[in-house]
Amino acid sequence: MKNVLVIYYSQSGQLENIVQSITHPLLEDEDVSVTYYTIELEKSFPFPWTKEAFFGAFPESFLQIPSKIIAPSPEILNKKYDLIILGYQVWYLTPSIPIVSFLKSTFGKQIIKNTPIVTVIGARNMWVMAQEKMKILLIKSEAQLVGNIAMVDRHINHISVITIVHWMFSGKQTKYLGVFPKPGVSESEIINATKFGDIILNHLRNNNFEWLQKELLTKNAVEIRPFLIEMDKKANKMFQKWSTFIIKKSNYRPFWLKIFNLYLFIAIWLISPIVYILHLISFPFKISKTKKDKTYYQGVFLED
Ligand SMILES: Cc1cc2nc3c(=O)[nH]c(=O)nc-3n(C[C@H](O)[C@H](O)[C@H](O)COP(=O)(O)O)c2cc1C
Repeated sequence: MKNVLVIYYSQSGQLENIVQSITHPLLEDEDVSVTYYTIELEKSFPFPWTKEAFFGAFPESFLQIPSKIIAPSPEILNKKYDLIILGYQVWYLTPSIPIVSFLKSTFGKQIIKNTPIVTVIGARNMWVMAQEKMKILLIKSEAQLVGNIAMVDRHINHISVITIVHWMFSGKQTKYLGVFPKPGVSESEIINATKFGDIILNHLRNNNFEWLQKELLTKNAVEIRPFLIEMDKKANKMFQKWSTFIIKKSNYRPFWLKIFNLYLFIAIWLISPIVYILHLISFPFKISKTKKDKTYYQGVFLED
């Protein structure tokens, strides 16, 4: 009997649907026992979000400052799993606070230690640098990242910004104004995600995850968009400055969060289109670097 633990956190239910779909083939197999564990915080985040809560979560999200989590059951804590599937969403280019809180907790470290991990990302589209941070968190707990599946909104970047704002602040995953596409990962992609579960199941049966990621990639588990990597890296540098600045300004925090909100608006709607044009112009000169980046960010290893 193989024991698999599925760890996740989801506000809207999107990530829950994704991990349910991926693990469906494992559930069907009588030689596999699947346990689901939802991370719960002592003080939960609101959904739908208020503007204050959404921007208020920025400094701690980006700086990976954990919150207190409710302890997992002793049954989960004391069991050794053959595989852990870790579903996470990205908040401010970083694994979300609930996930970081779990991974930094003594419970989390104990559960994942010496265990193969497949990460499953359910994000808007900017997850690449978050996964680099995830690789570090897993290495620190001596867990082995053996696979990664990134499920994202495939629409044009700016369209997905508009539609996710509508979704996060209304709680409704509906077509904004009746004309925009539905936000989030498409329903058909979520349904088809069972194909990843089939691959994971084969490797689990053979107790060998060496080629898992390679095989997942043949089924388009990870799409890399070079422009988003460039934006992600640039935004990480700016977020580092903003978050360390705001965290120190405890008396004026609400004021500086409003200024950060304004900065974010300008960055998305004015700076990023300029960066995009520059990216297109310089693209022909960076083809080999782009290829190298693509292979690296599709993989599960951390660069030195
Ligand atoms: C505070 C906050 C920040 C977010 N930042 C990002 C981000 O940097 N990159 C990204 O691709 N998605 C981002 N998202 C979208 C989430 O990764 C995720 O897709 C969405 O919240 C739905 O997840 P759920 O399953 O928890 O409902 C953000 C969402 C929230 C609430």
